Amino acid sequence: MLIGIWAVGQDDKGRYTVIGHDSGLPWRLPADLKRVKALTMGKPLIMGRKTFESLPKLLPGRRHIVLTRDKDWRAEGVEVAHTPDDAVAIAHADGAFDEIIIFGGAQIYALFWDRFDRLETTLVHARTEGDTFIPPRDQTDWDDHIGDHFEADGDLPAFTFHTLTRPEGWSAP
Ligand SMILES: NC(=O)c1ccc[n+]([C@@H]2O[C@H](COP(=O)([O-])OP(=O)(O)OC[C@H]3O[C@@H](n4cnc5c(N)ncnc54)[C@H](OP(=O)(O)O)[C@@H]3O)[C@@H](O)[C@H]2O)c1
Repeated sequence: MLIGIWAVGQDDKGRYTVIGHDSGLPWRLPADLKRVKALTMGKPLIMGRKTFESLPKLLPGRRHIVLTRDKDWRAEGVEVAHTPDDAVAIAHADGAFDEIIIFGGAQIYALFWDRFDRLETTLVHARTEGDTFIPPRDQTDWDDHIGDHFEADGDLPAFTFHTLTRPEGWSAP
């Protein structure tokens, strides 16, 4: 099962499309980071080379499978993949993982966009300055289960957790 996970803020048209700024996250939302940790612990993460390089360090308890086109690229603690299918095969190679996390960023979400079985998203309810975007989500493809909501607090914007599942009968293209 492929699970996309991201936090997304609003662009200047009010659409939820902004995921990155200056090679990092546009906000620091402790409750969201805690949720990401809980949702990903023990599971293989597939991410792009740029997202990997934005992390301060390896995330404990999770395998890091990094997509790059550079055949010579290596990093300690990382399994390297050169195609999306390689990345999924590598994730499965170390046991029968039911849940594989697609960890971003925008280029990597795009590679898996039609194949996600579930999305764990955080909608950040604020106009967000950024340079990395995902397409606005087509609501009709998903059943939306709304989770915890956090009101704006000081510098932190309001945000809401969502779990999106596929409607009954859906199968990956
Ligand atoms: N808001 C969130 O939840 C969230 C989550 C994750 C990331 N982000 C943010 O997103 C930004 C980074 O996203 P990004 O879209 O710029 O980069 P990215 O998706 O993290 O990584 C892009 C890199 O992935 C590799 N790649 C892309 N397509 C590939 C393919 N078909 N085959 C093999 N390798 C491929 C390439 O690496 P090479 O150049 O090495 O070939 C490419 O430069 C950062 O600001 C980060 O903080 C936000």
